[in-house]
Amino acid sequence: MDHFTLRSGELYAEDVPLARIAAEVGTPVYVYSRATLERHARVFRDGLAAAGQVRLAYAIKANPNLAVLRVLANQGYGADVVSAGEMARALAAGMPAAGIVFSGVGKSRAELAKGLEARIGQFNIELEEEGRVLAALAVARGMRADAVLRVNPDVDAGTHAKISTGRKENKFGVPISEAPAMFDRLADLDGLALRGVAIHIGSQLQALAPLETAYRRIGRLVAELRAAGHSIDRVDLGGGLGVPYRPGEEYPAPAALGAMVAEVTRDWGVELMFEPGRVIAGNAGVLLTQVIWVKPGVVHPYVIVDAAMNDLARPALYDAYHHFEAVRPCGRRMTANIAGPVCESGDTFAMGREIDVVASGDLAIFRTAGAYGATMASSYNSRPLVPEVMVDGDRYAVVADRIAAETIMDAERVPEWLG
Ligand code: LLP
Repeated sequence: MDHFTLRSGELYAEDVPLARIAAEVGTPVYVYSRATLERHARVFRDGLAAAGQVRLAYAIKANPNLAVLRVLANQGYGADVVSAGEMARALAAGMPAAGIVFSGVGKSRAELAKGLEARIGQFNIELEEEGRVLAALAVARGMRADAVLRVNPDVDAGTHAKISTGRKENKFGVPISEAPAMFDRLADLDGLALRGVAIHIGSQLQALAPLETAYRRIGRLVAELRAAGHSIDRVDLGGGLGVPYRPGEEYPAPAALGAMVAEVTRDWGVELMFEPGRVIAGNAGVLLTQVIWVKPGVVHPYVIVDAAMNDLARPALYDAYHHFEAVRPCGRRMTANIAGPVCESGDTFAMGREIDVVASGDLAIFRTAGAYGATMASSYNSRPLVPEVMVDGDRYAVVADRIAAETIMDAERVPEWLG
């Protein structure tokens, strides 16, 4: 459920007409709904309550805007971060360091050191050497790093290959068969408090079955580690729950995940952690755009909008579907292609799609753009960096400025030896 709805023939974000934001801020612009973010945060937490006391670390990569992070901090969420930059954002938004988990397959030594110095709550170790380096950095600071070992359970998550992370050929985690011996070696190191294991098998999962398979494998590993004398008190079950992008699509609700987790983890006796990203932010944001032209095409007309692949990369990268709707639908429908102004054919949001009839100057939205939207934007084709707005009831604020192409150019230099 979200708060982007039609009222007397016009799309609103909560109590603010999207047309007002377009007039005052310009397009393209991402628009987030505070009430929707809060609702998703609550529904996820309540859904997982069946599994007992769980720790929630919002996956910042989905939407790292500081205002979004503040909403989630207020909801009691910590953060899953994958870079020093994301760590800085979590801290700046008021998330307690103890609630920060540092994931990622390529944390640099400098980033590990920053994490230690900030006293974050957990490092998710992705390879043995990283564990050894982290231990040494901790010893040098007179510290012990709380850590878990990320395991690759070799499960096909049934999602797009580019966002699947739990198959053995993926770069993530250590092979589950090697985990017990590696755990023995790492648990011996002075600078590490190795407390358990972590997994994350992929994103936009449409079914719970692959998660359940992975969780059961992890459960057997926990038993094996305990039998070898290790005390295991944390298991991080990652993120991955998918969201509907198309009208009428069904996805497992957090409560269904909670019921499955409760059953599978019944006698684990550990503190569970989750790292939800998309399920919190995805449907809490839309990309608001304006039609520049409707260009006649050989098969279908091209609706050319002022948003492009540099603003919303998911269709170009993953052939992702984002639902397109007119802000003031006239009631008639047409079949069209939807594309942006960027100079490559990959800058196409949809081909042969049935959409509201739109004309030059009309406003429209791409839905489900709150996760992996603005954060993956670039200035390709020397376009401005897209701004972000958050709505709260009948008010809104610009929570990220549009960064002009000229401002981006200002950071470049032509060395004098080029003449
Ligand atoms: N934890 C870890 C270790 C992750 O790698 C990810 C996502 C998450 C949590 C959050 O997963 P979520 O709950 O959002 O599914 N740019 C892609 C998605 C990449 C996801 C990467 N990892 C997209 O636009 O679909």
